[in-house]
Amino acid sequence: MDITSFIANMPKAELHLHIEGTLEPDMMMSLADRNKIALPYASVDEIRAAYNFTSLQDFLDLYYQGMAVLQTPFDFYDLTNAYLARCFAQNVTHVEIFFDPQGHTARGLTFEAALDGITSALDETERSLGITSKLIMCFLRHLSEEDAFETLEAALPHKDRIFGVGLDSSEKDHPPPKFMRVFKAARDAGFTAVAHAGEEGSAANVADAIDLLEISRIDHGNAVLNDAILTDRVSAAQIPLTMCPLSNLKLCVVDDLSQHPVRLALQAGLLATINSDDPAYFGGYISENFLAVQHALNLSFEEICQLGRNAYLGSFMDAGQKATAVAAFDAFAAENTP
Ligand code: HPA
Ligand code: ZN
Repeated sequence: MDITSFIANMPKAELHLHIEGTLEPDMMMSLADRNKIALPYASVDEIRAAYNFTSLQDFLDLYYQGMAVLQTPFDFYDLTNAYLARCFAQNVTHVEIFFDPQGHTARGLTFEAALDGITSALDETERSLGITSKLIMCFLRHLSEEDAFETLEAALPHKDRIFGVGLDSSEKDHPPPKFMRVFKAARDAGFTAVAHAGEEGSAANVADAIDLLEISRIDHGNAVLNDAILTDRVSAAQIPLTMCPLSNLKLCVVDDLSQHPVRLALQAGLLATINSDDPAYFGGYISENFLAVQHALNLSFEEICQLGRNAYLGSFMDAGQKATAVAAFDAFAAENTP
C-alpha cells in the first residue's frame, strides 16, 4: 500500500476538533435559510473567499459570526452528524470533540440546546457506526472568569455527558492564570482538563497551563519546542500534544508546512498527534491534515504510524478500550506497511 492509501485507510482518532468549526459553507447557507438569519454573503463561493486569515483573531471573528446560524438542537444535531459522516468516510473510530457553550448562550440559546443536539448525534452514531466519543466544553478565554464559572455551573447537571473542560479563543492577552480558579473547580467536580496553549502564545503559556490549570493534554503546543527544558518535561510526562497542521498554516502560525514542528516533536519524544481543529475553515479534515504534513515534511511510514498510534495513546479512552484500539492500529500497520 502506498503512503497516501495507508493514511486514508488507517484507523484514526481525532482529539482536537471544534464542532462549530465543522460548519461547511453550504450548511451555513442552508441553516441561515432554515432559521431566517441574514448572512453577509450571497453564495458559498463568497463565504469561502472570506476565509483568508492572517491570525487566530482574524479567524475567530468569522467563526463566531458563522455559528450564529446554529439556533436549535436540530441544527447542532445536523452539524454533528455531518462531521461524523466525514469521520466514517476517513476511518476515524474515536473522536474527542470540543464545543463552545458561551458562543451560544451569549446569543440567547440555552446551554442544553447545543448539548442535546450534539450528544444525540454522538450517541446515535456510536450505535449505528461504532464511532466512540468524548465531549469537552471549552471556556472562551476572551470572556471573564465569572462567565466561565457560570458556564461550569450550567454544565454540572450534565456531568454524565461532558467529559472535560478546555480553554480556547484568543490566546494573546488571555493567558492561563486568569482561569486557575475555574479550572480547579472544574477538576474538583470531576472534569478532565485540557487547554489550548502555545498556538500563538509562548512556551510559558504551556508551562502555566500545566502547572496552574493542571491539564492532562495540550491543544496545539507548537511553542513547547522553543523551550528545551519544557520539551524534556512534556516528553518525560508524555503529556499529549494535539497538533493541527492546516490550522497552523491558515492562521499563519507557520509560514509554510515544511516548517511545521511535528517531526521535531516526534524526534524529541513528545506524544504528538495530528488533528483538523476547524476543518470547514482550514481546508481539510483529519486525512487531509495527515496528507499535507506527510507531503511537506516527507514523513516516513514509521512517523505516520507513530502519529496515528499516538492519537489512541493520547486519548481519554479507558485502559481496556485503549489497549484494544492500539492493538487494532498495530495490526493494520503490520499488515499494510511495506
Ligand atoms: N484556537 C483557539 N480557539 C479556537 C480555535 C483555535 O485553533 N478554534 C476554535 N476556537
Ligand atoms: Zn482548536
